[in-house]
Amino acid sequence: MEMKLLTKRFGMPNSQSIDTYLATEGYQALKKVVTTMTQDQVIDEVKKSVLRGRGGAGFPTGLKWSFVPRQSPKPKYVVCNADESEPGTCKDRPLMEYDPHQLIEGMAIAAFALGAKLSYIYIRGEYWYLIKILETAIAEARERGYLGKNLFGTDFECNIFVHPGAGAYICGEETALLNSLEGLRGHPRIKPPFPAVAGLYGCPTIVNNVETFTAVPHIILKGGDWYRGLGTEKSGGTKMFSVSGHVNKPGNFEVPMGYPLMKLINEDCGGIRGGRKLKAIIPGGSSVYIMTAKECEDATLDYEGMVKAGSSIGSGGVIVMDETTDIFETTFNLIHFYNHESCGWCTPCREGTDWLLKLFKKIKRGDGTTEDLKIIERICPNIEGRSHCPLGEAAVWPITSAMKKFREDFERRVRKVETVAAD
Ligand SMILES: Cc1cc2nc3c(=O)[nH]c(=O)nc-3n(C[C@H](O)[C@H](O)[C@H](O)COP(=O)(O)O)c2cc1C
Repeated sequence: MEMKLLTKRFGMPNSQSIDTYLATEGYQALKKVVTTMTQDQVIDEVKKSVLRGRGGAGFPTGLKWSFVPRQSPKPKYVVCNADESEPGTCKDRPLMEYDPHQLIEGMAIAAFALGAKLSYIYIRGEYWYLIKILETAIAEARERGYLGKNLFGTDFECNIFVHPGAGAYICGEETALLNSLEGLRGHPRIKPPFPAVAGLYGCPTIVNNVETFTAVPHIILKGGDWYRGLGTEKSGGTKMFSVSGHVNKPGNFEVPMGYPLMKLINEDCGGIRGGRKLKAIIPGGSSVYIMTAKECEDATLDYEGMVKAGSSIGSGGVIVMDETTDIFETTFNLIHFYNHESCGWCTPCREGTDWLLKLFKKIKRGDGTTEDLKIIERICPNIEGRSHCPLGEAAVWPITSAMKKFREDFERRVRKVETVAAD
């Protein structure tokens, strides 16, 4: 069963407006931090909550915030990563569309904790229709005294601006995002230094996902321990999952961390379409290991549970494939995507994904051989761990796992060619 925390205002009339927000505990958490808490207390509460970043990597949010050198004389920045370009993932969109103030409040709390006056929402270009919603909400918050100067009669100042990207997957990678925000080409930067120390314009910057920020007001209002208690010991709270593919009721679902994957599929999503059998799931967007139906059986949707089951939670885009799916075709589509989206800066990713795509095309048109499968297997480890940013890994993980776990779908393609050649 879904647990509505971040999504509790979805479906309310005028859920976007500040009046709805204020009538449902809105901006109470911001008031609490600004008027009664210290920066350290806010960070400690977020640490206690075991909130882990919802953008894909699952890094503990409170810990990330504690890396910001607050004594540094440089300005600090808070940046919301609303690029949401991961295939299969569309959870940040409704969070911004139906409850923009929840995001604004979460960002303002982060800005208080870190001492940032200026914050940005970097939103993917294709979400152009959300820009107006966010800007209207920001204007409302400013008018009512929840953004701007001297908030709640203190010297705390908080300003938020929306910055649209141009629609490149790589601009979701946090350092490429910062380059893009600075007006540079969206190429990833070398880490370290991490953005918490040297981010936007070389200043301390926190980059968090939309969903991560929206959890923060709840943590402050009800306490870090309460939030952690909703989920598991090491994965606190609830998480949104975007389920797509061969289920009867695809969509976004908010469930507590630790929720069984198959319960989500069979109960919340109404099971596999047409009563067919499950063949595979890519659970974390598309940048993670593919799972067999067997691996899905006991998998739980928390960071440790998914690793135990042989994959990762990633960004929470659950792509479901029934028994009619040809996994070769699935991976073909993915390598097409990653090759197109590789920024081209580093050789392993640029050349490697290009070479992989060529081999996949060769196999698809019926000219592939067993040797080509072996070449694919040799190329993958030359991208993984050698590319400049994790886009290279994202490209390789679904392929290597698919070739291992669904070998027959690959062998079938080349066997046909080799049988004809032998005749
Ligand atoms: C190629 C690539 C694309 C990414 N795209 C996104 C994205 O669209 N949204 C997002 O929040 N994080 C994305 N990330 C992860 C970010 O780099 C970063 O880890 C995240 O924004 C941190 O926020 P969090 O700690 O709240 O998860 C991407 C990473 C990579 C390598």
